[in-house]
Amino acid sequence: MIGFEGLYVIYLIASMCFILAIRGLSSPKTARNGNQLGMFGMGLAVLATLLVLPTRNDLGILSAGFLAALIGIWTANKVKMTALPQVIALLNGVGGLSSVLVGMAQILRGQVSLFDSSVGIAIGGVAFSGSLIAFFKLQGWLKNKHFSGANIINIIIFSGLIITWAEFVMTERMYALYMLVFGAFLFGATITLPVGGADMPIVISVLNAFSGFAASGIGFSLSNVALIITGALVGASGTILALAMTKAMNRSLVDVFFKTFTESEEKDFQSRTARVGSPQDAAFLMENASKVIIVPGYGMASAGAQYALKNMASILKDKYHVDVKFAIHPVAGRMPGHMNVLLAEAKVDYDKVFGLEEINPDFETADVAYVIGANDITNPLAKTDASSPLYGMPILEVSKAKTVFFVKRSLGAGYSGAQNPLFFADNTLMLYGDAKKVTEEVVANL
Ligand code: TAP
Repeated sequence: MIGFEGLYVIYLIASMCFILAIRGLSSPKTARNGNQLGMFGMGLAVLATLLVLPTRNDLGILSAGFLAALIGIWTANKVKMTALPQVIALLNGVGGLSSVLVGMAQILRGQVSLFDSSVGIAIGGVAFSGSLIAFFKLQGWLKNKHFSGANIINIIIFSGLIITWAEFVMTERMYALYMLVFGAFLFGATITLPVGGADMPIVISVLNAFSGFAASGIGFSLSNVALIITGALVGASGTILALAMTKAMNRSLVDVFFKTFTESEEKDFQSRTARVGSPQDAAFLMENASKVIIVPGYGMASAGAQYALKNMASILKDKYHVDVKFAIHPVAGRMPGHMNVLLAEAKVDYDKVFGLEEINPDFETADVAYVIGANDITNPLAKTDASSPLYGMPILEVSKAKTVFFVKRSLGAGYSGAQNPLFFADNTLMLYGDAKKVTEEVVANL
């Protein structure tokens, strides 16, 4: 047995592993080590907790842990890269729900500070239902639901939540606790439902931060140092990520949760025709170009086109001496760093990968912009149409290139639901088809 002093030392070591793990995750080169360190720290913390647990139900705890680990391993092996954001949303939700359950169990046993645990329960409840809604939206099972008066309704529910919380902490009445849980679930759902598609990444980061703060609150009520530190780390990193994203998308959190917009009209677009190119056209223009900028988006991830893309870039560089660069928008794909991870997986040179601000001035001198499975991140309505869900978000200025190829299967809208007028621009050629297949055909023609 390690005793409580030993437990604190092990928790401290585990927490240091978590901090170093986050540091490792800041670069693709060290991300794998960071992940392994995080896993080691978590394993250590769980093992130490099991060793000092004063429980008489070891078999129950061990079998629950074993089953949960099996589900985790199975999910991690099965899930496609494109579905990772949904999985992250679900994990946030599960974290929130566990804070609610642990907090309630402790209160029912009368063993905790009501203040800490009720705060943990409320934040965890919001994280749980909000994350479920985010999961349904990312999975495409739920569209944005802009109900009239959403802001007023949310303010009323939030006020009710605060009043119920105060009532519970002051009176310790159980009905107030149940109302608090119900109110938190309701608020999480109603605040997430109306959020515009393009803002979902920010919402996921906010919910991630919430699940961390909820765990921290429960950690205080249980006097569990590991939970306090881990929750604070998740809360702080989620908050920093949310703020970095709001900055990258030129939004404020108030805009994200409270601003309403109207859906773009599809009618105008259906009557227009776009110019269509072929893989041969693309190969010809790119092999005769001096500078080509590749803009990957969600469709590249969905098609798994990163290897074909890397192949195309290598041939253009080695055989035709073309300057090939990759342009990454901060919210391209469906999760932070989505494109970077895939390009790194295909061994694309880091030096050729540029962020939005760095690369935007380059489009003016580019001969070709090869936009592959990307849409919203190039949509000029973000600059001109105040009613667009994308309004205010900085875009990759692909239209400034001499020729723009859009590799996608149709003229369909992107994640935000906004139509993209760039498909009909004079210098645009559509390359219809699956991103991987089209790029392989371009490669065959080079
Ligand atoms: P989107 O705007 O979603 O556009 C992707 C395009 O890819 C679609 O219009 C689709 O058109 C095409 N596509 C899908 N599968 C394809 C395939 N197999 N082959 C070829 N094309 C395919 O993606 P984006 O430009 O990367 O922008 C990201 C959007 O997602 C933003 O609105 C962002 O706010 C949101 N979002 C981002 C995140 C993070 S953190 N990155 C998280 C959640 C949401 P077709 O159907 O015509 O083929």
